[in-house]
Amino acid sequence: MRAIRHFLSLKDFTKDEILRIVNISIKIKDNFINGDKIQPYFKNKTLAMIFEKSSTRTRVSFEIGAYQLGGMALFLSNKDIQLGRGESIRDTARVISSMADMIMIRTFEHNKLEEFSSFSSKPVINGLSNEYHPTQLIADYITMLECGIGIIDDACKYQILRKPVVCYIGDGNNMAHSWLMLASKLGFELRVATPKGFEVDSAILELAMQFAKHSGAVIKITNSPKEATLNANVITTDTWISMGQESQKEEKIRQFNGFCVDTDMMNLGDNAIFLHCLPAYRGYEVTDEVIESHSSKVFIEAENRLHAHKGIMTFLEEENWKK
Ligand code: CP
Ligand code: NVA
Repeated sequence: MRAIRHFLSLKDFTKDEILRIVNISIKIKDNFINGDKIQPYFKNKTLAMIFEKSSTRTRVSFEIGAYQLGGMALFLSNKDIQLGRGESIRDTARVISSMADMIMIRTFEHNKLEEFSSFSSKPVINGLSNEYHPTQLIADYITMLECGIGIIDDACKYQILRKPVVCYIGDGNNMAHSWLMLASKLGFELRVATPKGFEVDSAILELAMQFAKHSGAVIKITNSPKEATLNANVITTDTWISMGQESQKEEKIRQFNGFCVDTDMMNLGDNAIFLHCLPAYRGYEVTDEVIESHSSKVFIEAENRLHAHKGIMTFLEEENWKK
């Protein structure tokens, strides 16, 4: 049997494949805007969505996205399915993949996703794990391209005015790791500024450094937001308290003093756009002024999740069944 292609982390994809997913998503978005509300790349198929954590954007965009591709989605909270009562991942994977055509999972440890996918007969999508949030990065990259910032292939319709110099400020979390994967695969400059003690995972950084050797990416790690922001054209951040870290809230707020993206920080950039995967906590990782400013693209970014997810699902259909 042929190995199934999943979408668990950008580390598993080549530059060409990432750009292909981005181009498919842009085409789907264009057609959608031009009136093709239903584009049947997932016609009569089913997406099972397992959520072990809360979600607004990921749930709504995958559910609506599956419908807009001619299929349907099924929401499964771990509070309601037997997985939440201790049924094994391997049994759950075999059962659900025998019925659904694709599975999206939002969970805690990334290795749970890996275990699930190794027992799944259908493609599995990572809808966020503690380590990675790859679907978000496809939407973020589309948003950058729409603003004229990016690295593209011949198939891309956008005119690129600036090479990305991306600055991520804040927690060394799943979003920081996902930016490391995107930059190191596509070959652009990424600066990551975290407080001391909240740096990115060293094994993930090492992997990014290896990819960067091939792609020409420049990866800089610092504890100075100012150093990271200088002349960047994309400035991004994420919540300081990821899902599952609620008990660390008070301590982290103390440790992250100086890491709030404010207008002074934005002004250090080179006419930078501001991105945030959302949900945002105004007054903590970003000021209200920045998120409401002209530079902020966060709501276009959120909307792009819908088209990015349709692109990812279409790519997986093509990769797995149409070759
Ligand atoms: N950005 C993101 O994944 O949002 P949700 O947690 O609302 O899905
Ligand atoms: N880092 C955040 C992202 C939320 C979309 C979390 O994992 O909760």
